[in-house]
Amino acid sequence: MPTFEPELVAESRRDAPQTLVIRQPDDWHVHLRDGAMLSAVVNETARQFARAIVMPNLDPPVTTVVAAEAYRARILAALAPGLAFSPLMTVYLTDSINRGEIERGFASGAFTAVKLYPAHATTNAAQGVTDVRRIYPVLERMQRLGMPLLLHGEVADQHVDIFDREAVFIDRVLTKVISDFPALKIVFEHITTEDAVCFVESTGPHVGATITPHHLMINRNAMFEGGIRPHLYCLPVAKRERHRLALRRAATSGNPKFFLGTDSAPHAVGNKESACGCAGIFNAPVALEAYATVFDEEGALERLEAFAAEHGPSFYGMPLNAGSIVLERTPWQVPSTFAAAGSHVVPFQAGATLDWTYKGRIDDTKRGRRD
Ligand code: NCD
Ligand code: ZN
Repeated sequence: MPTFEPELVAESRRDAPQTLVIRQPDDWHVHLRDGAMLSAVVNETARQFARAIVMPNLDPPVTTVVAAEAYRARILAALAPGLAFSPLMTVYLTDSINRGEIERGFASGAFTAVKLYPAHATTNAAQGVTDVRRIYPVLERMQRLGMPLLLHGEVADQHVDIFDREAVFIDRVLTKVISDFPALKIVFEHITTEDAVCFVESTGPHVGATITPHHLMINRNAMFEGGIRPHLYCLPVAKRERHRLALRRAATSGNPKFFLGTDSAPHAVGNKESACGCAGIFNAPVALEAYATVFDEEGALERLEAFAAEHGPSFYGMPLNAGSIVLERTPWQVPSTFAAAGSHVVPFQAGATLDWTYKGRIDDTKRGRRD
C-alpha cells in the first residue's frame, strides 16, 4: 500500500483557507454509553473516526464476552446508514474477573484490551480493582498474550489531593506494575501531568499514553472562570498550565508513544449542572477540529496525522486506515447543545469558534489523485 504524507494545500491567496488531508484517524478512548444516549452520540464519533476503543464502564460494566458482543451489536445498530465504523471492545477489570474469560475474549476478538479502573476512581468505577495485587494473575496472563492493559491512572485514595492523584498513581502503582510485568503492553490513558509525560517518555516502547483535546486546551483555571463551569469538569481533572504545556509538547513531538484518545464522556445536562455534577466532557463533535487547532497553534500540523492515525494502530499492532479525511482552516462555530435521550448534552467548546472545520471523509481514489 502506498504511504501518503499529510498534505497542506495552500490556495493562491495567502489568507485563503487551507486544506489538510490526512489518513483517517481512530479514537483510542471513548465512552459511547448505551440506549438512547448511545444513539444520540455514536455518530459524532463515527463520522470522524474509523475505529474507537470503547470504554466498558456501563452500568452494569462489561465484564464478559457475551456482554461485549451484545454491546458491540447495539453500537453497530445505532450507526447512521452507510457510516463505516469499527468499535473495539474492552473488558472491565474487577477483583474477581475470570482469567479464562479474558483469554477467550481476546482470542475471539471480542475484547481488544482490558480496562483497569481503580475502585471508585471515576464514573461507574465502583466495581473496579481495589488492589492491583489481586489481579496479578490476570496481568501475568495478559503479558503472555500480548493483550493491552488500559489504565485509569489515578489513585482513588480520598486523602490524596485530587490534583496529585495521577502523580501518586505513578509512584504507588504504575512503577511497580511495570517492574513486575516488564513486557506487559500498557496504555496510560488520558494523561494530564508533566509527571506522566516524563514517565511515559522514560519507559520502553510497550508503554504508551493517550491525550485528550480538552487537556491540551484548558488548564484548571477554566473550571472556575467567572463561576463554576461543570462542563469542563472531568477525571482526571485538568491541572496547572505547566502540565497543559507539557501535554502539548508531548502530543506534537512526533513521539509514537503518544496518541489520540478523546475520552469523550457525555452526560445529560441535568447530571452535569447539579449540586453534585458528573465528571466527563463530551468532545466527540469537536474532536478533530480541536486537535487540529492545537497542532496549528504549536506549528506542528505536519505531525497531526501521525498522532491521530498512525501511533495508535502501531501501538496496538493494527493496520493503518486506508481512507482519508479533510480538515479546512475555516472558522467553525461549535453548536451549543446536542439533543440526547429526552434531554441534551453540552459539548466541549460549546458556542466557541474554532479555527478548523471538519469537512468529512474522502475516498482513496481522490486522495491518490491528490498525491
Ligand atoms: C468518564 C465517564 O463519564 O464515564 N468521565 C470522565 O470524566 N472522563 C469516566 C472516566 O474516563 O474517568
Ligand atoms: Zn474515559
